[in-house]
Amino acid sequence: MCGIVGAVAERNVEGILLEGLKRLEYRGYDSAGMAIQSPEGVLQRRRAVGKVAALEERLAAEPLPGRCGIAHTRWATHGRPSEANAHPHQSGERLAVVHNGIIENHEALRRELVAEGYRFDSETDTEVVAHLVARELGRDGDLLAAVQRTLARLDGAYALGVVSADEPDVIVGARKGSPLVVGVGIGEAFLGSDPLALLQVTDRFLYLREGDVVRLSAGGRIEVLDAAGTPVEREVQTFEHGDGAASKGDYRHFMLKEIHEQPAVIAAALEGRLGERSVLVESFGPEAEVLFRQVRQIHIVACGTSYHAGMVARYWLERFAGVPVQVEVASEYRYRQVVVPEGTLFVTLSQSGETADTLAALRFARERGYLASLAICNVPGSSLVRESDLTLMTQAGPEIGVASTKAFTTQLTALMLLTLALGRVRGLDEAVQADLVAALRGLPGLVERVLALDPEIEALSMAFAEKHHALFLGRGAHFPIALEGALKLKEISYIHAEAYPAGELKHGPLALVDSEMPVISVAPNDELLDKLKSNLQEVRARGGVLFVFADEQVGMAEEEGVHVLHLPHVHEALAPILYTLPLQLLSYHVAVLKGTDVDQPRNLAKSVTVE
Ligand code: AGP
Repeated sequence: MCGIVGAVAERNVEGILLEGLKRLEYRGYDSAGMAIQSPEGVLQRRRAVGKVAALEERLAAEPLPGRCGIAHTRWATHGRPSEANAHPHQSGERLAVVHNGIIENHEALRRELVAEGYRFDSETDTEVVAHLVARELGRDGDLLAAVQRTLARLDGAYALGVVSADEPDVIVGARKGSPLVVGVGIGEAFLGSDPLALLQVTDRFLYLREGDVVRLSAGGRIEVLDAAGTPVEREVQTFEHGDGAASKGDYRHFMLKEIHEQPAVIAAALEGRLGERSVLVESFGPEAEVLFRQVRQIHIVACGTSYHAGMVARYWLERFAGVPVQVEVASEYRYRQVVVPEGTLFVTLSQSGETADTLAALRFARERGYLASLAICNVPGSSLVRESDLTLMTQAGPEIGVASTKAFTTQLTALMLLTLALGRVRGLDEAVQADLVAALRGLPGLVERVLALDPEIEALSMAFAEKHHALFLGRGAHFPIALEGALKLKEISYIHAEAYPAGELKHGPLALVDSEMPVISVAPNDELLDKLKSNLQEVRARGGVLFVFADEQVGMAEEEGVHVLHLPHVHEALAPILYTLPLQLLSYHVAVLKGTDVDQPRNLAKSVTVE
């Protein structure tokens, strides 16, 4: 998804902006650009289709000296990827704008501006913003006031950065519905759609709130006005994660690095939250215990991988906490006439905390009489975290690969903590709690052992490189794990993959099975194992080739057409977490064999900040 970087500094900012764009590459984009005020007071722009490296080449040939500028990576929404559609967009030669989000009333505004004689050079919704600000600037020459008057005309979601050649060393930023942060430097100030873009210059950030407008100027001056135009102070926060997260280290891809970080981040997610024999309910916040006692029902809302985590949690919450649970994708939930029984807790799951559909669902839910909202999220200071009553941070550290890996397993860990916290206040048997707490403590070690199976998994991946389709099967809480396995494979290897509860096979998908259809299944040692084995026989009888990840204690043997990889025994309730790992590694190796862009798969964005 689009990314914004801006800088007003004591030095040339081209390098700072370029590095910022590189750090935003993980979000997914198709073109990039930059506009800088030259020392002579001229606004100069460079843009390029494709990777930031292409822009870098342009800049090497035609550098942009200057101490104030804005830059952008674009993920096409209005108009195809092209240089003309890449940001910054200009109105004439003296004003430039970068924008994330969507201006919903852009067509009407475009007609109005065209009628007044403004010329449009792109197909984007953003260009109307450039012309509107330029028109307003013509009235009183005040960039901040011009942006404020422009915002009053815009419907939709945006984060904006604006520079004018007539106001040297000034950037005006604004946010509504899309994230924007201000980086606080020493005598310098920065703008970014994500703090990661600015970690090379500062670790101190001021998170803008909905409707805020900010003016950055020389000497590191930062003035924030709220939606009503009143000057406000926003707290400066120090970014918690080390900058090491933004580099691949010795790994070939961020995704592989993040897969291997899972023992450490699962341990981090558990830290400070486990007592001797039960979960520490107070780790959810001081009001949690009283609130949890009132919970009669739970609605979980999320997108993509986070939605799969919610589906697993339904099995856990109903079984151990005895609470009825409904799980739904955010983009559907928000357009339904939802019935909210008394005492319903609203839970959102999101790695980024900025997913537009999930955020909109939270805002929709706020009007529907829920008991409270709980966000399970990985990004401190994100919109979801700020707007929820309770938060549980997943502690995965920045996830750069577009395909979610460590964010998913830490979400599951957090959801098991929630299950046990709710179970505790609702009288879950103490021995069951103690058993699960002990199993959670042992989980990072087991994850480590599964990662050690990587060479065997890599060998299995060879069988997939030439395939066009794959089928994933699971039962119970492992059906969502099969869904997640299929999502990983299609996201990064572009192989069409589907997932079914294994018992559904005979109701239709079995027709797809032949020797060309690899069938992947997870077979932990649980009460559904025998039923799963029968389902796998149904596949084998039709010539389907099976790849089974099975508990070392279930005695499943290799035979012709059946490849078995044994995983260490794990408490059956935690098996969904452990069995995710081989599926992540399998997808990764298949994608590497196919030569795809593993960390930035085509058409996808890390943080989906548009509806
Ligand atoms: C996961 O691999 C995907 N890239 C995607 O489905 C993601 O989980 C989804 O967009 C939700 O993102 P969030 O967790 O940041 O809200």
